[in-house]
Amino acid sequence: MFSTDENKRRAAQAALPYVRAAACVGVGTGSTVNFFIAELAAERGRIRTAVSSSNATTARLRAAGIDVVDLNDAGPIDVYVDGADEATRRRELIKGGGGALTREKIVAAAARRFVCIVDEGKMVDVLGKFPLPVEVIPMARTYVTRELGGLGGRAVERSGFVTDNGNVILDVHGLAIVDPAALERRINEIAGVVTVGLFALRPADVLLVGRAADIEIL
Ligand code: 5RP
Repeated sequence: MFSTDENKRRAAQAALPYVRAAACVGVGTGSTVNFFIAELAAERGRIRTAVSSSNATTARLRAAGIDVVDLNDAGPIDVYVDGADEATRRRELIKGGGGALTREKIVAAAARRFVCIVDEGKMVDVLGKFPLPVEVIPMARTYVTRELGGLGGRAVERSGFVTDNGNVILDVHGLAIVDPAALERRINEIAGVVTVGLFALRPADVLLVGRAADIEIL
């Protein structure tokens, strides 16, 4: 099974009906979301304003002529649309392949509804084949690496990468995540961790899976 642009585009198009006219929309980060932004741009005027999850998405939204406001000034967000690196049929996710996990988790938390868009190649039975991204305060990097080792993971610093918040990313290899909510809680407890890229305590509300012939709605 392969990730294809066509399946990403199909998932992005399927998210449009969840976006009410004149809504404030939270917009995630990544190549699948870029297809969603292109759909929004083609329907200029469909949404009132957007809240962005990264500097890259902000630039892309503005280039498409879409108004972007700070979350603090936005009021309620009707819907948040974002991709994922891995997803289960229970709508638990690994996110952060693009390094935007902290802002993504904040905007998802602030939204009434989280619609996740993936191609079928992202679907798994057990999360963890994709290295789990963890955003960390730089001074805590080696301490957090040791703590994650104690949980059975091999944390590798993402080379040459600084998040929009000025932090580093550790990508954690070798985890078979059988209880995503418990692991999310456990990693959140480690001092120096800003965000773990597990979205299980607040999973997606709707998961749209772009497949070769159709869309699956979970
Ligand atoms: C960025 C993310 C993305 O949603 C995730 O990496 C999926 O990206 P893509 O749509 O390019 O496959 O979490 O931090």
